[in-house]
Amino acid sequence: MTLNTKLQETAKYIQDKGVSSIDFGLILGSGLGELADEITDKVVIPYEEIPNFPVSTVVGHAGQLVYGTLSGKKVLAMQGRFHYYEGHSMQTVTFPVRVMKALGADSLVVTNAAGGVNTSFAPGDLMLITDQINYTGDNPLMGLNEDDLGPRFPDMSEAYDKAYGEVTKKVASELKIRLQQGVYMGYSGPTYETPAEIRMSRVLGADAVGMSTVPEVIVANHMSMRVLGITCVTNLAAGMQANLNHAEVVETTERVKADFKELVKITLER
Ligand code: 6GU
Repeated sequence: MTLNTKLQETAKYIQDKGVSSIDFGLILGSGLGELADEITDKVVIPYEEIPNFPVSTVVGHAGQLVYGTLSGKKVLAMQGRFHYYEGHSMQTVTFPVRVMKALGADSLVVTNAAGGVNTSFAPGDLMLITDQINYTGDNPLMGLNEDDLGPRFPDMSEAYDKAYGEVTKKVASELKIRLQQGVYMGYSGPTYETPAEIRMSRVLGADAVGMSTVPEVIVANHMSMRVLGITCVTNLAAGMQANLNHAEVVETTERVKADFKELVKITLER
């Protein structure tokens, strides 16, 4: 079965559940899934019901699609995403993004929790992603290209949509939310980086490091989707603070998720 055939099968299942037009696909990262609770006129579809969907293994990731209205826009949100470190292939990790496009979404909002590498960042900062570095050692477009989905050699020179970023910056300043901006560097995980890797990341131009987002944004670009990316800097990376743990990541997202939700909601509105 070709990827496109699988996509059509999955899209049909989701449409039959009541999902119609989509203005924005939303991928809600670690601790940021609560935004989906504010969607109205909801259709909720657990991942395990959806044909061809993988099953998420990480605790704290709900694992469902939530469709409905948010800020007057039709959104399809992923509450919980798939990570490469779970052992899924990059093609599997990015399958839901392809489904979103098959359902008619031309824009994607990606969010994540990440470690701060830029020395002027503080835990709890939000960061507009302006660009990314794929340091995973893999790429979701490896293998035969399906030309009806996108080109063999996609342009990545504006992976994150400039105009969307400008709206987000304006909204943040109006809401008096501190918004950093910078480059997100994607590692495979599941280990956090060593202090030496973080020094390297900084030299290479990273402002934040994480274990997600990069494959989804590659695939979104392959299909000419416009992307907005927002990172929650949950902690400073290795060597910049005391030892890292997942509990701190959870605590910080708890603290800043109100700002995060407002920022995304008002940005969608605009
Ligand atoms: Cl320091 N590194 C990575 N790869 N992901 C993270 C992180 C650090 N902090 C939160 N997520």
